Amino acid sequence: MDTKDKIILNLKANMGNWISGEQLSKNFEISRAAISKQIRKLRQMGYEIVSSPRKGYLLESVSDLLLANEIKEGLKTKILGRKDIVSFTETDSTNTQAKDLAIKGAPEGTLVIAEKQTMGRGRRGRAWFSPKGDGIYASLILRPTIPPSEAPLITLLTAVVAAETLKSVTELNPRIKWPNDILINGKKIAGILTELSMEMDAVDFVIVGIGLNVNTPVSCFDEEIKDIATSVFIETGKRFERTTLIKKYLEHYEAYYEMFNKKGFKPILQKWKALADIIGRRITVDMISKKHVGQVVDVDVDGVLVLKDDNGKLHRIYSGDVIFA
Ligand code: BTN
Repeated sequence: MDTKDKIILNLKANMGNWISGEQLSKNFEISRAAISKQIRKLRQMGYEIVSSPRKGYLLESVSDLLLANEIKEGLKTKILGRKDIVSFTETDSTNTQAKDLAIKGAPEGTLVIAEKQTMGRGRRGRAWFSPKGDGIYASLILRPTIPPSEAPLITLLTAVVAAETLKSVTELNPRIKWPNDILINGKKIAGILTELSMEMDAVDFVIVGIGLNVNTPVSCFDEEIKDIATSVFIETGKRFERTTLIKKYLEHYEAYYEMFNKKGFKPILQKWKALADIIGRRITVDMISKKHVGQVVDVDVDGVLVLKDDNGKLHRIYSGDVIFA
């Protein structure tokens, strides 16, 4: 832990009370000038610290900043988010940043997170709306020992993790829309973007990005997504701490990822099906070059959607957009 992390812990423990510069300089055995330099850094990171020449320093309110020290505090994981958390006030895309780090050898479990993305990406070249401070924009680096054909399972696993996270922290009842959407009352609250790098016939790394609308008010959504997007705040009327949500996400993720590595996808598929209620439903799947309409027969252990069209023909669909009839 570096000095500024120690100072912020000290200020948090005395939330709402003044601590003199002299006291802080005694606590950390550094000069008053060094304390004020660290305070400047903490303010730049987003902490609202008030100072007074006579009273010292005061942390006014609980901060909900997606910073490494905030996320690591009390985090109950062994690998995910344990070693490296790279946090940005602003970046192009956490998936792009995570990919660059993975190419340079960043270990499994590295988390890249941002307060704002300027080029947040969704599936099929779409943009992901990423306003400052309201949402969670996070990407994990995973290095699973699986063949590339199994990589889509990571998306399904992540959807279960995201739904379980929302269930455990909020009172919401999330549903999964194959393959990567998390919906509340039919509106999208989160999306997942899984990107793969392979070497020969094996996966080198997988980047799993999640965008979760947490405290976004309706007024913040653009006209074209206003009717199809939602947030935890819109659905519950309450603001939630993003740090609590990301910690729970990492903890659930680790449990499911361990299950996947030890027991395969079957037990996770059961959970997925229970959260998806897609089997038996009539849908249209939009696959860029063509569309299929029919009834969903299954989502199998490969994560493939099996659709029976109106002529009774079965189609195995690996990727596409689902529209419910
Ligand atoms: C989708 O629903 O199409 C997927 C959206 C994924 C958005 C997340 S936000 C964090 C990560 N970085 C990105 O650029 N995209 C993903």
